[in-house]
Amino acid sequence: MTMQNKLTVSALQWTGASLKVLDQRQLPEKIVYDEYTDVAGVTEAIASMRVRGAPAIGIAAAYGVALSARQHCTQADHWRQKVAADIELLATSRPTAVNLFWALDQMKTILAKQLDNPIEAVLACAEKIHADDLAANLKMGELGADILAGATGVMTHCNAGALATGGHGTALGVIRSAYQRQPIKVFAGETRPWLQGARLTVWELAQDGIPSTLIADSAAAWLMKSGAIDWIVVGADRIAANGDAANKIGTYSLAVLARQHGVKLMVAAPTTTIDWGIDDGAQIAIEQRNPNELLPACYNYEGSLVSAWNPVFDVTPAELISAIVTERGVVMNPAEHGVRGLKNAL
Ligand code: MRU
Repeated sequence: MTMQNKLTVSALQWTGASLKVLDQRQLPEKIVYDEYTDVAGVTEAIASMRVRGAPAIGIAAAYGVALSARQHCTQADHWRQKVAADIELLATSRPTAVNLFWALDQMKTILAKQLDNPIEAVLACAEKIHADDLAANLKMGELGADILAGATGVMTHCNAGALATGGHGTALGVIRSAYQRQPIKVFAGETRPWLQGARLTVWELAQDGIPSTLIADSAAAWLMKSGAIDWIVVGADRIAANGDAANKIGTYSLAVLARQHGVKLMVAAPTTTIDWGIDDGAQIAIEQRNPNELLPACYNYEGSLVSAWNPVFDVTPAELISAIVTERGVVMNPAEHGVRGLKNAL
């Protein structure tokens, strides 16, 4: 294995008969893998954010369908309906990451065919989705690192690393690849309220020996004002055809601040994150999570006068994005033509 594809952290492991999921709620204190053999379990693992990050959600769902096929295809009657019902259940797990729906559509296409061995066919599709995601990330890493040439400092938000993907990461993949060429100063926002930056990103980088500096989310403007960063590099959960990009809540604030301070914003995401069917970001469903994720533990929001508003994604308009990096190529200044040109690119 080369330095480039040495994988130090893996969010998902297929055992041959089950799916092992690294419980990201317990990181960095504990490394615990939960093992799933049915779709109800995988759906809960996604909804509860044991596994999270758009591409990893899609991969987990694909393996979920493989588990469903193993469970139902041996029983002659109605197996297609049972697998279809499991696919519908997986689709309810989280609303924003389009990779989930893309992966389930891949499975529906396979299952619509006459299959000699549906169990093998569905598993092969899941394994391909997993392997293709890693390959896309390695490619994006190189393309993104080319753009970062000469930069001395970057900031990232949330966790768009190996933990959120099939390996290497999207935004963190770009940062990893750039760091391998030439050390670069890396800042990570803590990413309230779930602390993906503080608990996951800085830990993941440390596993690879890459130093990073954690900042409170509210320190981002001051960091930019100091001149320490040239680029913000983030992932995405869904990109509209015009280049508007949904990502972890707080990305839009960073984009606005970046424009004020002459800092550039790169969105790195595989084309499986592009929703070709929507023209702009207004059509992206934004997940609202339980107010208890935000409120101090002493409040019981039900029946109390204190509530919380907890949208967990926001949409950054294309005009605030300097570059969208995909495995099919880079779109500079996506506000000009959107990302439609990537649809038929090799
Ligand atoms: O709520 P999460 O942790 O699933 O949100 C994850 C993000 O917003 C990531 O930036 C995005 O999914 C890209 S992951 C490569």
